Amino acid sequence: MIGRLNHVAIAVPDLEAAAAQYRDALGAKVGAPQDEPDHGVTVIFIELPNTKIELLYPLGEDSPIRGFLDKNPAGGIHHVCYEVEDITAARDQLSAAGARVLGSGDPKIGAHGKPVLFLHPKDFQGCLIELEQV
Ligand code: CO
Repeated sequence: MIGRLNHVAIAVPDLEAAAAQYRDALGAKVGAPQDEPDHGVTVIFIELPNTKIELLYPLGEDSPIRGFLDKNPAGGIHHVCYEVEDITAARDQLSAAGARVLGSGDPKIGAHGKPVLFLHPKDFQGCLIELEQV
């Protein structure tokens, strides 16, 4: 069902510092910050030859990233995103298999303007999974 690794998301305590490190020390192609109020995050995408890195920073009081950074003050891997062709079919298949979909269960529009869903980390080896329809 899942296809390519779309991105690995890293929650960071200092977005500017993280972006500068990827750009200057690692020599990566670093995008501009984008606010995603629906997701409570500010994101910066970093383009690698085979995938992307998504730097995540909290936006707003109810940001889901804030609690993560409270537990991981130095930052850390927050989720991985896999591509799927049909997100509704993927959701239905995973729900039927007992996996929990976060939130309302309906896809939201993600940072790339495409439908996304998140799957409960306790159902996937402790790793939060994002599915993105491509
Ligand atoms: Co993501």
